[in-house]
Amino acid sequence: MTTPAFRPVSYSQTTLTELMIPSYANFGGKIHGGILLSLMDKVAYACSAKHAGNYCVTVSVDGVNFLQPVEVGELVSLKASVNYVGNTSLMVGIRVTAENVKTGIVKHTNTSYFTMVAKDDEGSLTKVPGLILESRDDARRFLEAIKRKEFSQRYQMEFFNTKSILSVDEELYLLRDERCKLAF
Ligand SMILES: CC(C)(COP(=O)(O)OP(=O)(O)OC[C@H]1O[C@@H](n2cnc3c(N)ncnc32)[C@H](O)[C@@H]1OP(=O)(O)O)[C@@H](O)C(=O)NCCC(=O)NCCS
Repeated sequence: MTTPAFRPVSYSQTTLTELMIPSYANFGGKIHGGILLSLMDKVAYACSAKHAGNYCVTVSVDGVNFLQPVEVGELVSLKASVNYVGNTSLMVGIRVTAENVKTGIVKHTNTSYFTMVAKDDEGSLTKVPGLILESRDDARRFLEAIKRKEFSQRYQMEFFNTKSILSVDEELYLLRDERCKLAF
């Protein structure tokens, strides 16, 4: 199948639903964050590969904040949608909810953003189709993704510059009021 130049957001929207079984739980009886991260990676892959028409790999993950614990027995749904496309990369927004099947109460546990890149059969980066924005919400998400990308690039530049000029000896005094002890 030849890949078209543009694909609509709805073409690759993907929902993954999984029952939280006891083996997913931590010692406190709640679901491990890593289980949810793994499901997010899976749905991000499905959504991005469908849009790209190619194999995709995860480059970075933004905004993983677990807002509420997930319980054993809950049905977790992960809704994924391509929010933004660049040249070879695309950003997938994932909204995660957990439903208590007895009460029907649905809680929003997190929304995260996975940046993926598409690869061709030789493993080289390859261009992804453009995105047809079918609603104002699609346009809002695309615009927000541009801001998120700019912010992340600024943060990375600033952080790495800071790291290279940070003088541990000169800044040790900043640890005075922190909950740590120097043992060197
Ligand atoms: C992703 C990867 C190919 C980027 O390599 P690179 O030499 O920096 O390539 P480029 O600079 O050409 O960037 C390619 C695209 O990735 C994007 N990108 C690169 N690093 C990024 C980052 N940290 N966050 C977000 N996007 C990033 C670039 O913006 C570019 O997007 P565009 O083509 O839409 O403009 C490389 O880092 C890689 O292979 N990483 C491992 C990915 C992997 O295997 N993941 C599985 C988990 S182990």
